[in-house]
Amino acid sequence: MATRFIHLQGRTSSAVIEFTAQGVPVWRHWGARLGAVTSVPDWEDTAPVADFSLDKTVAPSALPLFGDGQFGPAVCLAHRAGKDWVFAPDFQVQHWGATTTLIATDAKAGLELRQSIEMDAKTDVLTLRTTLRNTGYAVLDVVWLASGALPLAPRASRVESFTGRYPREFVPDVQALGSATWRRENRRGLTSHDTPPLASVLGTGAGQHSGEVWSAQLAWSGNHVQSIDLLEDGTQLWMAGEWLAPGEVRLAPGGTLETPDWLATYSPNGRDGAARNFHAAVRARSPAPVLPRPVHLNTWEGVYFDHNEADLIDLARSAAGLGVERFVLDDGWFSGRRNDRAGLGDWWPDSNIYAEGLAPLAEAVIQLGMSFGLWIEPEMVNPDSDLYRAHPDWVLSLPGLDKRTARNQLVLDLTRPDVTEYLFERLDSLLAELPIAYLKWDHNRALTQAGDGSARPAYRQQVLANYRLLDRVRAAHPGVEIEACAAGGGRIDAGIALRTDRFWTSDNIDARDRAQIQRGFLQFFPPDRMGAHVGASPAHLTGRSQSLAFRAGVALPGHFGLELDPRQLSADLRYELRKWIALYKSQRDRLHTGDVWRGDVGDSVHWQAHGDEREFIVFVYRLELSRYAYPPALQLPFLDDTRVYRLSRLDPGAPFQRGQAPEAHCALQEGTLDISGAWLKTVGLALPQMKAETCLIIEGTVAEVGSTGRVGEGR
Ligand code: DGJ
Repeated sequence: MATRFIHLQGRTSSAVIEFTAQGVPVWRHWGARLGAVTSVPDWEDTAPVADFSLDKTVAPSALPLFGDGQFGPAVCLAHRAGKDWVFAPDFQVQHWGATTTLIATDAKAGLELRQSIEMDAKTDVLTLRTTLRNTGYAVLDVVWLASGALPLAPRASRVESFTGRYPREFVPDVQALGSATWRRENRRGLTSHDTPPLASVLGTGAGQHSGEVWSAQLAWSGNHVQSIDLLEDGTQLWMAGEWLAPGEVRLAPGGTLETPDWLATYSPNGRDGAARNFHAAVRARSPAPVLPRPVHLNTWEGVYFDHNEADLIDLARSAAGLGVERFVLDDGWFSGRRNDRAGLGDWWPDSNIYAEGLAPLAEAVIQLGMSFGLWIEPEMVNPDSDLYRAHPDWVLSLPGLDKRTARNQLVLDLTRPDVTEYLFERLDSLLAELPIAYLKWDHNRALTQAGDGSARPAYRQQVLANYRLLDRVRAAHPGVEIEACAAGGGRIDAGIALRTDRFWTSDNIDARDRAQIQRGFLQFFPPDRMGAHVGASPAHLTGRSQSLAFRAGVALPGHFGLELDPRQLSADLRYELRKWIALYKSQRDRLHTGDVWRGDVGDSVHWQAHGDEREFIVFVYRLELSRYAYPPALQLPFLDDTRVYRLSRLDPGAPFQRGQAPEAHCALQEGTLDISGAWLKTVGLALPQMKAETCLIIEGTVAEVGSTGRVGEGR
């Protein structure tokens, strides 16, 4: 029997680390909750002796290191001018509150690794972080340092991550796990559209609501690696950490490198179970967004760069008339910014457009009963700007190489204190002089030759400097909310979430694409942080035309807003939009504080429910016409089968006509329909024939006994 082990317990998960007689920490379990564990069989006693292997068995340490006798991947790769590249560590463990720290020390090679592991018992989310210290007498070159390494059982058979591009974020990518290493690397210098640092691993048979799911995300807005390797015992090792450019981290004697946090969770309740754990953890770690989340109008797609003060005040008036609560002035307001070729860096209002500055517009917005928000892109500069002309040396670059522009812009070198001082001064003055409640903080290009003034790679320091700038702005202006945007969803991660209040999920507001993007987003982040706007029809980026009801129905569960010029709408559409805004306001508390479930009926119908077992709202999205004369029923697996639910239709979409829709749906829209939880959960509510790209929103509450509602079985 093992002499020592730790058992980290959540509500539905357990993680167990054994310490062998030599003190080596060995992962023994990460998965289903084990209840009381009084002893753990000793790994060394239970492992068979491997043929033609090392004569002395090497326990698979939780901190595998190169050359330690294991042949899988290592958590750290480093060397000292080509020496000290093999590690033979001694282990220790420390406990401090809820945190366990595994320590690996190699006095000869001159390094110390400390990996902290904490299980949040309320959310089932593990937080892992590693610190490397150079205890030798010369510089240590660090090639790789994982935030953590977690074991996956052999039955973890598929990994689901995301790919995409601007503007098609969160495209699911599912791969079978096998003997080939699964590896995703991002080298764009920020979180990225194509390789966000998050993934879920599905156990055999796992699905949306049931089955084993392990899910993890790195809290980091820069380069990163995620990998899964098959080990010799059939288990799989999952690691994540920052991707380091060659020469990027060279630790002086005594120097340390601390990784970003890696958040990981296990759920026996499918993807939705893992998503609920992350929603709770992100809400607990990050600043609480102010609730209720106000209805936005963001000016980008409404006017683009065509700014005119009187016209914008008129636009604001029109928005206020619909019930909009926050007016966000997007790109185009600052000096020289008439298109995307000039102006970035010159963060003062363009006097040709805003003769008196932004105060008249901001005050008009406030007088209309809305708050005022402003777009910025602090990390960037256009070569055609006063800032660049004055300080051409302020950008990330490498001597002798052409500076590569993207969207006509270069990246400021935030590792220079004079650059961050300038940016802070500009932001601080804008926030002090104007009644700004909200900043949309954008970042519209990837980093290429990101060298600092000493020609060293600056990717990591750039991210940290940006975090410091955000923290400083927040500390100086605590009431101001900040939205993280990077050409839409290029910087959606749990690191930036610590210092922002909302994500701009994507520039793609075609409701059909958006529904898929939001579904991916919701696997890792809660809906109150998910910017979701109603755009114009046809959608600017896809050209598809969709009804207002579909566009609004898809945006409604997130932090709702408009990305259009409402003056272009017909009176009928404005009337309808007002009703959608009123519906959002009446439901947003429930939408933004409850649990979320997502599911598929099949036959091109997806659904998403928010709330709890007693009170919920379900959004039913039909993408294509049904191929059946009688469309399949909607089952809601999260309901309590001992209850009766009272359903009613909430959306102000086209009413069902008697004789054409099922009687039950006419009852839903005219009043209520009572239906047993058992039926709804297992057999389901029959759906009416719906047009392609339409949505139906149904509210359900537990009905009192002796109900007065109409009883139906869904057909
Ligand atoms: C990219 C963002 O995603 C858009 O919403 C808009 O803010 C533009 N940048 C402005 O340049």
